[in-house]
Amino acid sequence: MIIIQAKDYDEMSRKAALFIASQVLLKPNCLLGLATGSTPVGTYQELIRFHEEDGLSFQQVRTVNLDEYYGLPASHEQSYRFFMQENLFDHIDILPENTHVPDGLSRDPQAYGKEYDEMIASMGGIDLQLLGIGSNGHIAFNEPGRYFTAQTRLVDLNKNTIEDNARFFESADEVPRQAISMGMRSILGARRILILASGANKAEAVRDMLEGQVDPMIPASILQLHPNVTLVADNAALSLIS
Ligand code: PGA
Repeated sequence: MIIIQAKDYDEMSRKAALFIASQVLLKPNCLLGLATGSTPVGTYQELIRFHEEDGLSFQQVRTVNLDEYYGLPASHEQSYRFFMQENLFDHIDILPENTHVPDGLSRDPQAYGKEYDEMIASMGGIDLQLLGIGSNGHIAFNEPGRYFTAQTRLVDLNKNTIEDNARFFESADEVPRQAISMGMRSILGARRILILASGANKAEAVRDMLEGQVDPMIPASILQLHPNVTLVADNAALSLIS
């Protein structure tokens, strides 16, 4: 894993955006795997700036998102489709039909997950997957557990994640208890992975991801098995690395 150190969140965001922009320049019709949460917001702002000021075009880019809360319609302010529109898609020249976020209202999540994985494969696989890391070491909504799961599927959020995400809702009671999440197969199938981490509350998860064993209790540790992963993290998130 290549580690790129940044002094703070803003520098992490600039470096991450440069990384993604270079992918778009190298392969204008690339398939980007995208993430939500507070970590990538600054990266998306930089990409919007590259689009507005430097003419970076996303016209041929295709995207797939990692996950969506189960039960939230796209119009809900806390849905990840809404997040992506607000934080990126509405501000760049990407074609709406080229953007894919799991459908939180899918009636048959099991069949839907299979279709989502098949769609990714039929699009040629992900060129660059952007990831955040949960304070419990999750990637997408692959929560700590007894084993790694390959498929996109319906998952239960664990207590830690519900508490972490309660800041976006009126209260923890309103955080959906389930999500549709991409599994490890499509994530690890990406040709390159860019994982971001910012802040002291991620330091333990970053340490365990980098220095611990590959362990489904630290889902991000599976990235040790991927040949092309870059971590861009700020000093606070790297503070426990030996
Ligand atoms: P955050 O979430 O960016 O809001 O910290 C990261 C994650 O849970 O993957």
